[in-house]
Amino acid sequence: MPMNAATERDDLRRRFFDQSAEEWESRNYPPETRARTEELMAGLNIAEGMTILDAGCGRGILIPMLRKRAGPLARLIALDASAPMLAGVADKDSRALALHARAEQIPLLNDYVDMVVCFSAFPHFSDHSVAAREFHRVLKPGGTAHVLHLASREKINRHHDGHHAVHGDHMPDENAMRALFAGAGFIGLALQENADRYCFSARKKGV
Ligand SMILES: C[S@@+](CC[C@H](N)C(=O)[O-])C[C@H]1O[C@@H](n2cnc3c(N)ncnc32)[C@H](O)[C@@H]1O
Repeated sequence: MPMNAATERDDLRRRFFDQSAEEWESRNYPPETRARTEELMAGLNIAEGMTILDAGCGRGILIPMLRKRAGPLARLIALDASAPMLAGVADKDSRALALHARAEQIPLLNDYVDMVVCFSAFPHFSDHSVAAREFHRVLKPGGTAHVLHLASREKINRHHDGHHAVHGDHMPDENAMRALFAGAGFIGLALQENADRYCFSARKKGV
């Protein structure tokens, strides 16, 4: 895609998320969707005291769910490119660190987090391979990355194509995801997918 077109798309998407921030949760997270999101979190191997990065956190819907599982001493880091979205995080958990940054340039040290959770956000990142490399860089050896959605890849892509601001924000197909994450250095790549769930996981080599 020519540079100008890419920048215009990024701007359009950013404005969309900025403008949607205030009503994001009331529109997108009725109780039934929250319950399904809790179930997704229950499927992750979250242990007490972990350092967890929520990449593309939006209003921080996951933060209380992560806190419940990782406990009071866990370090929870919420990262989003939209400041109005990120503003929702402090109300939920005053101990969570909110980072206004892009997943393609994560302002964290190497080998810093135990887990990266990327929920309903990966297709919106403008450079998937750079984001996968950043996930790998900030993970500790043995740490895991999880790209999660409450729908199949096909449904996600169709849903995005129905909205002008996120049209074309596609989840790569399985081969492309494997290539992206293997190329970033990950091992243990696994995809579980059905009509209501997309769970891709990968591990950084190490202990
Ligand atoms: C569909 S929303 C999902 C937010 C949240 N995970 C949720 O489920 O409520 C996608 C989020 O990704 C963020 N985003 C888009 N591009 C990003 C990027 N390059 N880096 C970090 N966040 C980004 C948007 O600002 C938005 O908050």
